[in-house]
Amino acid sequence: MGHIKEGEVAVDESEILDLVGRHNPDCGGLMAILEEIQAAYGYLPEAALRLVANATNRSLVDVYGVATFYRSFSLHPRGRHHVCACLGTACHVRNAPSIVEELERQLGIRAGETTSDREFTLETVNCLGACALGPIVVVDGKYYSKVDVAAVKRILDDARTTPEQVDLSSAPASA
Ligand code: FES
Repeated sequence: MGHIKEGEVAVDESEILDLVGRHNPDCGGLMAILEEIQAAYGYLPEAALRLVANATNRSLVDVYGVATFYRSFSLHPRGRHHVCACLGTACHVRNAPSIVEELERQLGIRAGETTSDREFTLETVNCLGACALGPIVVVDGKYYSKVDVAAVKRILDDARTTPEQVDLSSAPASA
C-alpha cells in the first residue's frame, strides 16, 4: 500500500459554491462550510479552501487559520480508520518507537500518511494523558494500553472488522 498524494481528489466547484451559498458567511457559517466539505471529501482540499475564500470574501490565510485551528479538520486525505500511537516520554521509554515502526511496516506507510486504499491513517501524538498505561495506541476512539509489538497485528485486525468509526468523545476507554 502507498500513500495518497495531495491533489488527487477532484473538487467539484459548483458543489462547493452551492454549499457556501447555504450558509451565512460569518464565522459560524465558515465552520459549517468546512465541516460539510470535510464530510464530503474526507479532508479539506486546498482547491476547496480557495473557492471558499473567494466566495466568502475572506483571505485564504483566514480560511486556513480556521482549518488549522481545530483538530477535527484535516488538510490531508484521511483513511476510514484512524490509528494514533503515543510517542510521549513515558510511552517512548516503553518501546513506543518500535510499535510505531511495526504499524508503519504493516500498513506500508509512514506516520502522518494514509494508505492508498484509504483504509488507514497513521498519526503519532505526544502524550495522551494515560502514561501509567503506556504504550498507548488509539484506533477509531478505542484505547489499547500496554501495547507491545506483537499486539499490532491484532489491533489492526480489530479495526478492519469494525464497520464504522466511533466518536472518540463517546467511546469507552479499555484499560
Ligand atoms: S506519554 Fe503516552 S500517554 Fe503519556
